[in-house]
Amino acid sequence: MEEQVAVITGSTSGIGEDIAVKFGQGNYKVVVVGRNIERGNRIVDSIKAGGGEAIFVQSDVSQARECEALFRKVLSTYGTVDILVNNAGTMRNRPITEMEEEDWDDILEVNLKSYFLCCKEAIKIMKEKGYGRIINISSRGWLGGTAQSNYAASKGGIVSLTRSLALETARMGITVNCVAPGMIDTPLHQQSTEEEVSFRMNSQPMGKVGTPRQVTNIVEYFADEENWFTTGQVIYVCGGMSVLASLSS
Ligand SMILES: NC(=O)c1ccc[n+]([C@@H]2O[C@H](COP(=O)([O-])OP(=O)(O)OC[C@H]3O[C@@H](n4cnc5c(N)ncnc54)[C@H](OP(=O)(O)O)[C@@H]3O)[C@@H](O)[C@H]2O)c1
Repeated sequence: MEEQVAVITGSTSGIGEDIAVKFGQGNYKVVVVGRNIERGNRIVDSIKAGGGEAIFVQSDVSQARECEALFRKVLSTYGTVDILVNNAGTMRNRPITEMEEEDWDDILEVNLKSYFLCCKEAIKIMKEKGYGRIINISSRGWLGGTAQSNYAASKGGIVSLTRSLALETARMGITVNCVAPGMIDTPLHQQSTEEEVSFRMNSQPMGKVGTPRQVTNIVEYFADEENWFTTGQVIYVCGGMSVLASLSS
């Protein structure tokens, strides 16, 4: 099989980094995307040191112009895009009465608008070639969480975006799917307060956090050329938390 080109947003850290590293060990040319140049270059170097192929593109994917420039760079370097993993994300938890307009806007821009912008650019390319795999990283938190109305709304928006685009691209050879992680041990998760973590741990059926690799494994499934009949789906990687009612933190 020919090497495929995989664009992974937010791959300078955490879950995205793990996806980039794992894809770099497989049959993929990897485009590492984020704002932090030092971390981006370090990940590209480690992929190349392992015999893989990768570039880093610095991009704030919440900005339309930067997204367009990102995909122009990918086309000029590798000529195509086969896989898009939308993973860039952040969190700013506040009770609703303390949530400022910018807390809402910033989270929605990074977590949801960037997915729309990258999907738009990727689908233009994928539609032409009649092939593509899009994997959107949502969160179990889309089911609801106290002091997370901005984050939950952005992650719920990702599920709706995924389902809508799955229908829109169903006859284009493109699949669009979603992974909804629960607590995964990354720098983002480590931002949570001790109180939040202990509450979630008590509500966690397995009583432990997951690793980024648990998410990567599902991303790989959705990215596989052979899995062409699965689209518009959400797979939870959360140790069973989604089975419980939505929780407060
Ligand atoms: N960890 C968890 O427990 C958990 C649970 C559910 C869902 N998730 C989701 O999983 C995804 C990855 O999270 P993580 O835990 O791996 O967090 P992380 O370690 O903090 O990584 C977040 C990544 O997003 C990138 N990013 C943030 N804003 C960006 C922007 N404007 N433009 C481009 N890149 C941007 C960061 O890169 P730069 O700093 O270089 O820009 C970084 O690479 C997120 O969508 C998150 O919501 C995580």
